[in-house]
Amino acid sequence: MSATLATVSYIGATILFILSLGGLSNPESSRRGNLYGMIGMAIAVIATVFGPNVTSGGYAWIIGAMVVGASIGLYAARTVKMTQMPELVALMHSLVGLAACLVGYANYIDPAASSHLSGAAKSIHEMEIYIGILIGAVTFSGSIIAFCKLSGKIGGSPMLLPARHWMNLAGLLVILYFGREFLHAETLHDGMLPLFVMTFIALLFGIHMVMAIGGADMPVVVSMLNSYSGWAAAATGFMLNNDLLIVTGALVGSSGAILSYIMCRAMNRHFISVIAGGFGTGGGTPAPKGEGVQPAGEVNPILAAETAELLRDAKNVIIVPGYGMAVAQAQHTVYEITKVLRDKGVNVRFGIHPVAGRMPGHMNVLLAEAKVPYDIVFEMDELNDDFPNTDVAMVIGANDIVNPAAQEDPTSPIAGMPVLEVWKAKTSIVMKRSMASGYAGVDNPLFYKDNNRMLFGDAKKMLDEVLVVLKT
Ligand code: TAP
Repeated sequence: MSATLATVSYIGATILFILSLGGLSNPESSRRGNLYGMIGMAIAVIATVFGPNVTSGGYAWIIGAMVVGASIGLYAARTVKMTQMPELVALMHSLVGLAACLVGYANYIDPAASSHLSGAAKSIHEMEIYIGILIGAVTFSGSIIAFCKLSGKIGGSPMLLPARHWMNLAGLLVILYFGREFLHAETLHDGMLPLFVMTFIALLFGIHMVMAIGGADMPVVVSMLNSYSGWAAAATGFMLNNDLLIVTGALVGSSGAILSYIMCRAMNRHFISVIAGGFGTGGGTPAPKGEGVQPAGEVNPILAAETAELLRDAKNVIIVPGYGMAVAQAQHTVYEITKVLRDKGVNVRFGIHPVAGRMPGHMNVLLAEAKVPYDIVFEMDELNDDFPNTDVAMVIGANDIVNPAAQEDPTSPIAGMPVLEVWKAKTSIVMKRSMASGYAGVDNPLFYKDNNRMLFGDAKKMLDEVLVVLKT
């Protein structure tokens, strides 16, 4: 393929990526957005593999790598459950970071990459390598820790080392010092030590940064690592002189940064405070996770049949889905119930919290999969004021996102986080299996309110029972 055709293909792919992002911003156009992205990526891969930068000797390597990568990707896509998607995404971010590091080292070692450069051009090339490896290493180790936290392999509570901000500052100064040493290194050998030291500190920084973040703030970290992985890809593009990689990396980096900002705003957090760590701890003591959490009051249980009666008699119902609905895969039954109620003239709406579930848009994806009409699915802000006029607020496998402690208890680890005010409805029904806490590990005073009922059991099983009664 000629260089001109490759450039034209790259421009086409860039346009498709931008259209893809535009499409993904709305559930109704998201399929189209995905399609644009797939076509754009296919064009990008073909133009790169058959482009002027690959010699015929490289094909065997490329085909081998593509077979291995595609097999792993296909296997993961077919076997990973919807609830494990955030872990998979974190793992993929780590691979982008690792790739940036490896490309950086290979670029530095390869004499052909810089032998034709001198003076300022050589310094700029070395800065690209240094910064590329730096971002790559932070992304790699941070994403691995995020993967471990999201999959429960390590606990969600923040690890707060004494003087952690000073440690971060000291790390930054050492990185700057060795950056200077690296740029002044005369030989390959001299440059390697600063590069190794910086990589080591960057890896530690990535670990420290994510370890210091409290459970409920993990969404911000995931989107932030998404942004980092974009910048790592852009840095790789600079090192490889690949314009498409620079543009694509910048698109991912900036969209991830915007998403992080939106997440922070939605959770009433300052971006810098989340990154600096320690949020999600507050002054309070997070309750231990799991079944061992001691109830802090009396709860009023309810049966599935009684729940069906309440729903049947209601005029306005708001359903608040959370992570438990994803675990139970209850979205299809939820939709069946919605249909029956709407046929009876009940006004049923869905309230979606920006961080419900375990990834941005998690609930929207599940509801779209179950074919719930988009026009009855609302953002938290759009219907939070409507709860006082709601007869039944049905909470399906959600916990942190409906926790009144966020408003009522300034010492709570989730204090200040906006929540869906389900307790203001005439009756709220919480569907979950036990009294266990949610992701943030804090007790939920909603369960003990007088107008709240607890429907204990697996969400799918309970909703199936509710549906049977509703249909009779
Ligand atoms: P959580 O607070 O995690 O609560 C989910 C609840 O679902 C649990 O208390 C659990 O209680 C229940 N549950 C689990 N399996 C169930 C099943 N089969 N049937 C019925 N209930 C089941 O979820 P949430 O309210 O959606 O809040 C999300 C949390 O995750 C927030 O703290 C958020 O910050 C965090 N987070 C979000 C993201 C994104 S981007 N959305 C990413 C990372 C972390 P039982 O065990 O008693 O059943």
